[in-house]
Amino acid sequence: MRTTVGIIGAGPAGLLLARLLHNAGIESVVLESRDRAYVERRQRAGILEQGTVDVLRAAGAAARMDREGLRHDGIELRFDRRRHRIDFPALTAGRSVMVYAQTEVCKDLIALQLKEGGPLLFEAEALAVEGAESERPCVRFRYEGREDVLECDYVVGCDGFWGVSRPAVPAALSRVFERTYPFGWLGVLADVPPSHDELVYAHHDRGFALLSMRSPSVSRLYLQVPEGTDAEDWSDDEIWAELEQRFETADGWRLERGPITQKSVTPMRSFVHEPMRHGRLFLAGDAAHIVPPTGAKGLNLAVGDVVTFARALTYQKETGSTELLDAYSETCLRRVWQAERFSYDMTTLLHRAPGATPFEERLQLARLARITSSRAAETDLAEAYTGFPHD
Ligand code: APR
Ligand code: PHB
Repeated sequence: MRTTVGIIGAGPAGLLLARLLHNAGIESVVLESRDRAYVERRQRAGILEQGTVDVLRAAGAAARMDREGLRHDGIELRFDRRRHRIDFPALTAGRSVMVYAQTEVCKDLIALQLKEGGPLLFEAEALAVEGAESERPCVRFRYEGREDVLECDYVVGCDGFWGVSRPAVPAALSRVFERTYPFGWLGVLADVPPSHDELVYAHHDRGFALLSMRSPSVSRLYLQVPEGTDAEDWSDDEIWAELEQRFETADGWRLERGPITQKSVTPMRSFVHEPMRHGRLFLAGDAAHIVPPTGAKGLNLAVGDVVTFARALTYQKETGSTELLDAYSETCLRRVWQAERFSYDMTTLLHRAPGATPFEERLQLARLARITSSRAAETDLAEAYTGFPHD
């Protein structure tokens, strides 16, 4: 098998890249180790930055998002039993975000790819990337019980944190920057209308809580829990009682309960691999970097990477110049580090760190007070939350 761009992984990064390349008249093949149902069911975050929304529209992949997505013009910060709204359009010259689940983005892109795009093979597991330093890199993969080779001009590793692409960069050239956090998020889906019409990020002595949503009738809620917690250790009643305490306000706001349909624990990690390119192998999305979910940046970063790659390859095709491809890693990393900084700031601002000193706890409250009393500080948060431009 031979193609121009071999794409490993059909998460949002790989699927959107295939769509962008198709629109630019560039051939690709996508290899995905899981089956279609698994990819379409996987629960992930659901906030699309303004720039991500614009990219999906320009790619002709936004019809259902525009019908079913919920435009959000702000978020609420909650601490000390008080509520503070951050008004995005007022602080960022009109920017907002879209609540539309990552799984829905993936379903839309899969349907488009199967209908209009190049091959998208499910249950096709990449085993190794070879020849990244040569003109003809290739991907060895297993499909329908046989081993095969996909020969490419370029390979893009969109295979997430646990994939085979990142290890194909020689260890001597790799640098990893990493931080883990001593807590995770217990996330639940519940069949109940969200109790607030915007997301609520709550700081509480008992730990962080987040109220989000998937639709006007489905709530998505999270609780900070100790690292290593098993979701099954929490009964539904315990989850609701804990959420109620952490979201409690002085003004009598109420959290509506409903049947919990799914629960799981997500670990928290910050991770960056540099460089994001080795020869003709390019890393994109979670294959290259992870952010803790507090700022909802994971999907948006993946989109930024593949937009940068598609633009660079189109430029190469049109002008013969590899200038933008050569700059890929640096271009992406500038944006990646801004998102790492923001996600880290949001995480440390809102979570209760085990072992924090009283001094650190007071500082955390001072940071919250600063955001809620200074337009400059609030603007900084709003700009980062709604997203940095894809340059
Ligand atoms: N061969 C083929 N496919 C693979 C392999 C392999 N060896 N290893 C992993 N994959 C697939 C996974 O099954 C998955 O479908 O690669 C895909 C990677 O997708 P994601 O993990 O969703 O990563 P990405 O597309 O970079 O999206 C980033 O996902 O983790 C969230 O919060 C994160 O929203 C962010 C987004
Ligand atoms: C979600 O809806 O899953 C979600 C929203 C905002 C976040 C993280 C997750 O910061």
